[in-house]
Amino acid sequence: MDRPEILLPAPVLASAMEALDQAFIVHRLWQDPPAEALARVRGMAASTLAGPVGAALFDRLPALEIVANFGVGYDNIDVAAAAARGIVVTNTPGVLDEEVADLALGLLLSTLRRLPQADAFVRAGRWPQGPFPLSPSLRGRTVGILGLGAIGKAIARRLEGFAVPIAYHGRHRQADVPYPWYPTPKALAEACDVLIAILPGGPATRHIVDAAVLEALGPQGVLINVARGSVVDQQALVAALQTGTILAAGLDVFDNEPHVPDALRAMDNVVLLPHLGSASEVTRRAMGALMVENLQSWFATGQPVTPVPETPLRAG
Ligand code: 8YV
Repeated sequence: MDRPEILLPAPVLASAMEALDQAFIVHRLWQDPPAEALARVRGMAASTLAGPVGAALFDRLPALEIVANFGVGYDNIDVAAAAARGIVVTNTPGVLDEEVADLALGLLLSTLRRLPQADAFVRAGRWPQGPFPLSPSLRGRTVGILGLGAIGKAIARRLEGFAVPIAYHGRHRQADVPYPWYPTPKALAEACDVLIAILPGGPATRHIVDAAVLEALGPQGVLINVARGSVVDQQALVAALQTGTILAAGLDVFDNEPHVPDALRAMDNVVLLPHLGSASEVTRRAMGALMVENLQSWFATGQPVTPVPETPLRAG
């Protein structure tokens, strides 16, 4: 059987690109493939680095059947436009949950106990002049999880070991979950002093953490965002941090990555990470393998491995 032709809109992980090159004829969009080649493209391997994937690109790919995304979040893909064309979209759930949860806890503790600032203090040779100032604490706090999906639950499991009360908000109360549910993000923020955002991005959750939620979190409140920059009103967050409306923030994601506003970079009460949630070698390899497996399975059997719920399955 001829190898199916696929499109890479932007480079992905090297190990995944090798696997794709072995299994498929790969056209690289940044090398300007001719329209005849694009017309034969049946699959796509996408990632957030590729920018938005939607109607404009689909229009150039009349034979496209499947978009396999490198990442569990797929807000970079217009799933409604894909569904309208009968294109299946897949993501990489499961293989990164524990890794992202580890990072979330690391970021929470770094933010509260000011670990990056303390590291900078030692490196700058300031310790001999006196001790590092005492920090805020996780002790005595209630942690609110905004979005109790698979990763949110992995975060909650870890927090149980830290002996802190846990609460959550999601669209629905979950029957099998022991933590109290709050019907709105604001109600959750009122009930807790740490808010961890780990919900999908996209239009439905845009700015779900707004000025009112930050106000409700309060002057001792800490925001941790390991979801998407879009879920937080970044301007409102900057203002809340500047005015002491909340105490501190730990941010792994931003509005316009890789650009981080100067105002945030200048602040001492934030910890800023360059979107590291799943960024370990082992986890990124697993994500790449699952993305490739989705394409291979689709072309071999007509069934993807991990399709997203919004797009249809089409017989292969
Ligand atoms: C990656 C992510 O940053 O899986 C996700 O949703 O945010 C991350 O794992 C991203 O997928 C890299 O393209």
